[in-house]
Amino acid sequence: MQALGIDIGGSGIKGAPVNLETGELLSERLRVKTPKGAKPEPVAEVVAEIVQSFKWNGPIGVGFPAPIKHGVALMAANVSEKWVGTNADDLLSTITGCPCKVGNDADVAGMAEMAFGAGKGQSGAVIMITLGTGIGTAIFYNGHLLPNTEFGHLQMDGRDAEHRASDAARQREDMSWKKYARRLNEYLNEMEKLFWPDLFIIGGGISRFHEKYLPLLKLQAKVVPAQFQNEAGIVGAALFSQGEAIKLSSRIASRGG
Ligand code: BGC
Repeated sequence: MQALGIDIGGSGIKGAPVNLETGELLSERLRVKTPKGAKPEPVAEVVAEIVQSFKWNGPIGVGFPAPIKHGVALMAANVSEKWVGTNADDLLSTITGCPCKVGNDADVAGMAEMAFGAGKGQSGAVIMITLGTGIGTAIFYNGHLLPNTEFGHLQMDGRDAEHRASDAARQREDMSWKKYARRLNEYLNEMEKLFWPDLFIIGGGISRFHEKYLPLLKLQAKVVPAQFQNEAGIVGAALFSQGEAIKLSSRIASRGG
């Protein structure tokens, strides 16, 4: 069984077909720059372009950087406000001619890691954190997701944490890895004090440089990089097209991890 996974981000829109049994990408991913302003129609056109480039005709799952209920974005931090209230499932299904199911980007990335990656078989509380343009969070307990958590907007020094500790903040402020590790530690420490997770999984593009900052963190919970790195969003989106991931992760949890 296959599905096309698409990850819509503040700077890029990426997609690839995915094998839903193994989580493997079936061909190299395609990345297109996010159109300026990230408004619904131009973004939908890029999604259609990606679908066409793979000559895809089948189910499509999409990760989107906002809380999503029944295909509708409830808030927009790093994309156009015009998404709020837009039914993204309908918009993308119409333009692509394929059934599209849209979910929160961090939630779906977390699903991929729970099903096939760094969270596989892990029971208890797991928090996936994606560090990119914003900070995304996905919280699992015994493999079950609590959808649409938005802890990238936790306040740090009077500002949204994602403005202080995302990868975009690191680049904007030209932070050394040491300084960034301190900043990230501050954020994760807040999360730890609120949730006492057993495991943090760090995703987003920055996860491929994990050796530079993860060893500097001082937390009680174990912290590991996402095994799919930045591709967790694509794999998870493909799973989400089926509602597949939730079933997979709960099966894993019931095996006792
Ligand atoms: C959004 C979240 C999203 C995160 C990562 C935040 O600004 O509010 O919904 O998961 O960015 O993209």
